Amino acid sequence: MERMLGRVLVVVPTYNERENLPLIVRRLREAVPEAHLLIADDDSPDGTGAIADKLASDDELVHVMHRPGGKQGLGSAYIAGFRWGLAEGFGVLVEMDADGSHPPETLPALLKALDRGADLAIGSRWVPGGKVVNWPASRQFLSRGANMYSRLALGLPVRDATAGFRAYRASTLEKIGLDDVESQGYCFQVDLTLRTARHGLRIKEVPITFVERAVGASKMSRAIILEALWRVTVWGVAGLPARVRRRLGRRR
Ligand code: GDD
Ligand code: MN
Repeated sequence: MERMLGRVLVVVPTYNERENLPLIVRRLREAVPEAHLLIADDDSPDGTGAIADKLASDDELVHVMHRPGGKQGLGSAYIAGFRWGLAEGFGVLVEMDADGSHPPETLPALLKALDRGADLAIGSRWVPGGKVVNWPASRQFLSRGANMYSRLALGLPVRDATAGFRAYRASTLEKIGLDDVESQGYCFQVDLTLRTARHGLRIKEVPITFVERAVGASKMSRAIILEALWRVTVWGVAGLPARVRRRLGRRR
């Protein structure tokens, strides 16, 4: 199927996902057969890179980017993947985890939101219809807390700004620009949501069911949380004068 918006590239960052990767690739190829897939692997010690190469040699829609130098962060993997996809002329760039938490079967709903005019479609856990399965209370609390803080500090019109399952129009990434994105870890998600909102682009949240991984371990860490807290606070303070001006302007 040729989309109005052009070809779709799903970027999947991997770090130690050897059991999960073949399963998610198969599910994605079944759910959206025309989509291309780029695996961005950070030289995983468990050999995920070699498994990715095997998957790519069996399927011409599967591509692999080997990033030497070890774990460099989710944000930096996505930026490298997006750059490749934009240079290759893809019209839609999708983010998806390798561990099965993001159901590829819901990707058509995200793509439909773009077809209907959204510039960014977010697969959201925290809108009506969205769900999280098998997360401990501590992790739910972290995600809700991070989203509440992002809404308050940044004024984001979004329920799930940290979501990692999303689809961008290529034009959105070109408008917001990737060159000065400094976020290394998961705050990359909030960073790009904020940039999209500040450019006045249209964001649509689509409910998803997020299922916690059954195999392997999350890469969430204290360093990732601290980076997010620090950066969101800095962005919030930097954006404050403009928010106040807008408020006052509205009142007059
Ligand atoms: N290449 C690369 N480099 N991949 C990475 C890195 C890295 O440094 N860190 C994590 N990944 C990959 C994982 O292998 C997985 O495919 C995906 O990124 C998500 O990592 P998880 O460790 O499974 O994330 P999570 O389940 O704790 O967090 C989820 O929720 C976050 C907050 O709501 C993800 O969906 C995040 O994207 C989201 O921000
Ligand atoms: Mn996960």
